[in-house]
Amino acid sequence: MFCLRVRRVVRHSEKVSTLILEREVPSKPGQFLMVNVIGYEEIPLSLSSPNSITVKAVGETTKALVKFKGGEILGIRGPFGKSFTPSNRALIIAGGIGIAPLRYLYHWLNAEVTVFYGARSRDELVFLEEFEDVHVSTDDGSYGFKGNVVQLLKRSNVNFDCFDRIYCCGPPVMLKSLYELLKKNDALKKSEFSIERFMRCGIGLCGSCVLENGLRVCREGPVFRGDELTPVFERSLYKSHEDR
Ligand SMILES: Cc1cc2nc3c(=O)[nH]c(=O)nc-3n(C[C@H](O)[C@H](O)[C@H](O)COP(=O)(O)OP(=O)(O)OC[C@H]3O[C@@H](n4cnc5c(N)ncnc54)[C@H](O)[C@@H]3O)c2cc1C
Ligand code: FES
Repeated sequence: MFCLRVRRVVRHSEKVSTLILEREVPSKPGQFLMVNVIGYEEIPLSLSSPNSITVKAVGETTKALVKFKGGEILGIRGPFGKSFTPSNRALIIAGGIGIAPLRYLYHWLNAEVTVFYGARSRDELVFLEEFEDVHVSTDDGSYGFKGNVVQLLKRSNVNFDCFDRIYCCGPPVMLKSLYELLKKNDALKKSEFSIERFMRCGIGLCGSCVLENGLRVCREGPVFRGDELTPVFERSLYKSHEDR
C-alpha cells in the first residue's frame, strides 16, 4: 500500500465529486484502485483519469469521500484488474457514475468516439462538456432525451456495425438491457462491459467477487467481453430496464 494526498476536489453535485490526486498512477482505463479512507472501509474505485477518482455517495465511505475538500491522505493499493482494449471507431455507453472509467477511456483512445450517456437528472451528468459527439438522456427529462440511455439508443436506431468496439459501464439494470440489445444485434463479441461486484481483497484471493461464469471481477475483470457475460445476465437476478 502507498499513500497519496488529494490535491483538489471538484464537487459536481451534492452526491458526486472528483478527487484529483497529487500524482498520476501508472494505469490503463478500466483499472481500479482499492482506496483506504482513514476511519472507514477500503473500497474499489475506478480511475477517471490517471490522477483522479470520481465518487458517487451511496454509503458511509463514499459519503465521506464526496465531502473531501483537498489535502486529505488516502491509502492506495493497485491499480488492479483488466483494462479496456483500444479501437479505431468506438461507441461508449455510460449510465450514471459508470461514466468514471469511460471518461478515462475517452481521452486515452486515439479514435473517433461517439458517446451515449444517461443519468437520473441533469445534475448527475458529469464531464459532459468534455465529449464532442455526445447523446444524452435523463430519466426525469431535465436534459436531453426523457428516458434511459438504452431507450435512447433504440430510438436513435444506432447501427452497431459502424463501430469496432462498444464500451459499456453503468448500473446492473442498464447493463442487462444493453446486453440484450447488443445480443439482438450480434454485437456482444466486440463489446466490453465493466462490471461491479462486492470486493474485499481486490487481488483474486477471497472469492467475494466471483461471477456466475466463475470469473473474478478483481482479476479477470472488471472489464469483460460481452459474450463472456451470458451466464451473468441470463442466469442471475439482474433485472433489465424493461422489467422495472
Ligand atoms: C471495480 C469497481 C469499480 C468501481 N468504481 C467506482 C467509481 O469509479 N465510482 C464510484 O462512485 N463507485 C465505484 N464503485 C462502487 C463503489 O466501490 C461502491 O459504491 C462503494 O464500495 C460503496 O461503499 P460505501 O461504504 O460508501 O457504501 P456501502 O454501505 O458499502 O454500500 C452502499 C450500497 O452500495 C452497494 N455496493 C457496495 N459496494 C458495491 C459494489 N462493489 N458493487 C455493487 N454495489 C455495491 C451496497 O450493496 C449498498 O447497497 C466501483 C466498484 C467496483 C467493484
Ligand atoms: S475481491 Fe477477493 S477475489 Fe476478488
